[in-house]
Amino acid sequence: MGVDMGELRGTHVPVLLERCLELLTPALDRPGAVHVDFTLGLGGHAEAVLERNPGITLVGLDRDPEALAHARHRLQRFEGRMHLVHAVFDELPEVLAELGLAQFHGGLMDLGVSSLQLDEADRGFAYSKDAPLDMRMNQSAGVTAEDVVNGYEPGELVRILRVYGEEKFATRVVSAIVRERAKARIVSSAKLADLVRDAIPAAARRTGGNPAKRTFQALRIEVNAELAALESALPSALDLLAPTGRLVVMSYHSLEDRIVKRALAERARSTGPIDLPVELPGTGPSLRLLTRGSEPPTEQEVADNPRAASVKLRAAERIDVHGQAGQAERERPRLSAQGGRGRTRPGARKKGEGH
Ligand SMILES: C[S@@+](CC[C@H](N)C(=O)[O-])C[C@H]1O[C@@H](n2cnc3c(N)ncnc32)[C@H](O)[C@@H]1O
Repeated sequence: MGVDMGELRGTHVPVLLERCLELLTPALDRPGAVHVDFTLGLGGHAEAVLERNPGITLVGLDRDPEALAHARHRLQRFEGRMHLVHAVFDELPEVLAELGLAQFHGGLMDLGVSSLQLDEADRGFAYSKDAPLDMRMNQSAGVTAEDVVNGYEPGELVRILRVYGEEKFATRVVSAIVRERAKARIVSSAKLADLVRDAIPAAARRTGGNPAKRTFQALRIEVNAELAALESALPSALDLLAPTGRLVVMSYHSLEDRIVKRALAERARSTGPIDLPVELPGTGPSLRLLTRGSEPPTEQEVADNPRAASVKLRAAERIDVHGQAGQAERERPRLSAQGGRGRTRPGARKKGEGH
């Protein structure tokens, strides 16, 4: 492992930590509560959740074995209260079943790459460092960015750069890649970053940060099939969320946020006939949105932690159908304030929410 175990602790500030704790704590404040950290990373959020909630058990997942090793080292004082598992997060149902757990009460997804992955010289995620073009979060499986750049059809590369990177100059970038790879295989991140920079018109290069950023993001998403994993993980995670359990998701680009928004909204609205005053059994919402739209970071959070700049946080709580004021489900009036057919804005955060 290229990085000293202690070295990374101080360099990684967990994003929106206080807000995450505020949202999660009401769900974890019960005996035997289980918290799932879907994206353990360096364990910053997990450490704070374990400290703040002494009665909970943590199930921590990461697809990157190096991240897991760092988190295990950092969290060693909680040994006995945690299970750290090498898994892609859409494998949660199998992981919980193997641990003999039927459900979880708090869940956190902090999507994307960790500072470990960005900082380690040999991973190839960073356009600012020269490294082999790898970009796999799990380096023991799957295609690398080098395979994608050198092997994909030009049309497919253009689609990936446009959709996953929102790169306006995708065709120009791909033409440059195709010209170069006809001469020699493109194997380094610096070479790719140079190609992208030269392919983008000078006027466009003056704004929007490093011109290679969008191409690198697109390749990373493709290499790790990030959107497919998220799309399949959310429904199964929500099925396993205990009544009054809470899930918090932090995304870093609009494609991820759109998937999260849809998955939560789908369960936060009624599926029954619109003109009935009461919910029919099984048609009521199963989620209550805890955030009004997606929450951005505050200016202070961005100043303290530049990684927070693009974060979009959404959170929801599983409705306790049977616990609601002792009413049988078939007599339950429509929940108009939280997704009840849009009579009131869905997901409006209640006063005092989360305390
Ligand atoms: C932004 S970091 C998490 C940082 C963490 N919250 C902390 O405080 O240190 C994201 C982590 O999630 C992992 N990851 C991303 N997608 C994943 C997936 N589909 N399944 C499992 N782990 C994933 C990455 O390997 C990375 O370590």
